[in-house]
Amino acid sequence: MLVSAKEMVEKAHAGHYAIPAFNTNNLEWTKCILAGVQEAQSPTIIQVSEGAAKYMGGFKVVADLVKNLYEAMGITVPVALHLDHGTFEGAKKCIEVGFTSVMFDGSHFDFDENVAKSKEIIALAHSKGISVECEVGGIGGVEDGVASAGELADPAECKAVAELGVDFLAAGIGNIHGPYPADWKGLNFERLDEIDKAVNGKPLVLHGGSGIPFEQVHKAVTLGVSKVNINTELQLEFAAATRKYIEAGSDLKGKGYDPRKVLKPGCDAITAKVVELCKAFGSAGKA
Ligand code: G3H
Ligand code: ZN
Repeated sequence: MLVSAKEMVEKAHAGHYAIPAFNTNNLEWTKCILAGVQEAQSPTIIQVSEGAAKYMGGFKVVADLVKNLYEAMGITVPVALHLDHGTFEGAKKCIEVGFTSVMFDGSHFDFDENVAKSKEIIALAHSKGISVECEVGGIGGVEDGVASAGELADPAECKAVAELGVDFLAAGIGNIHGPYPADWKGLNFERLDEIDKAVNGKPLVLHGGSGIPFEQVHKAVTLGVSKVNINTELQLEFAAATRKYIEAGSDLKGKGYDPRKVLKPGCDAITAKVVELCKAFGSAGKA
């Protein structure tokens, strides 16, 4: 069965590796992520944004889909189902319908309101054994239509949210959602080190994991990062493989558009990328 993300993230923090958190966008994505982490024998977090959940039919559909696929596919590695960048209401709904982990992203509120709302979600989620992620400092780029210039989180604010009892904390350290510009300055390790010290061993989350050079991810892991979020990279892999298949055009002439055929190249590409990332983040074989 699906599990809370707390234990796997804490084990990763202690073991100096990172749990990959893959965003799912539909049935096929979910199957490929599960197949990939099972092949890599890696614990993982399958996460969904509110927009993707809406597209898939709602939070309860997503919860039932992931839970049933986990069982139907005979998956044996620990998997958590996590709401990504949740609103206050969205987090409460996911707690109700069977998610095993939620993020309440209050980074766009003023700090006091972020703390107050985070506190409420933490209490509610923990009363049901559900893990919680909160955020301090907006993550750059656009996620689910919410744009942020991206800022460096304030270590004192991170300490305050860590002390609320959150299970892992997302803190802006120059990371960006989506593709990184060629002139990107890289992660701010000085700020990450200050935050790592301020939160006193609380596992940190690296959002915008797609496109960050592995050596930077590895360095971030030595400074407290234990969960790395990936969405864009899987989307790019899927799109490239599908485009190649369509451009080849071989199977499509007159044989109809069987999704089992048309989506297969993209699915295989996602599965392979999931295995590669589990190995790169050091979670492979840690089930
Ligand atoms: O919350 C989602 C992640 O931060 C995904 O970011 O699309 O840049 O990998 P990414
Ligand atoms: Zn994110």
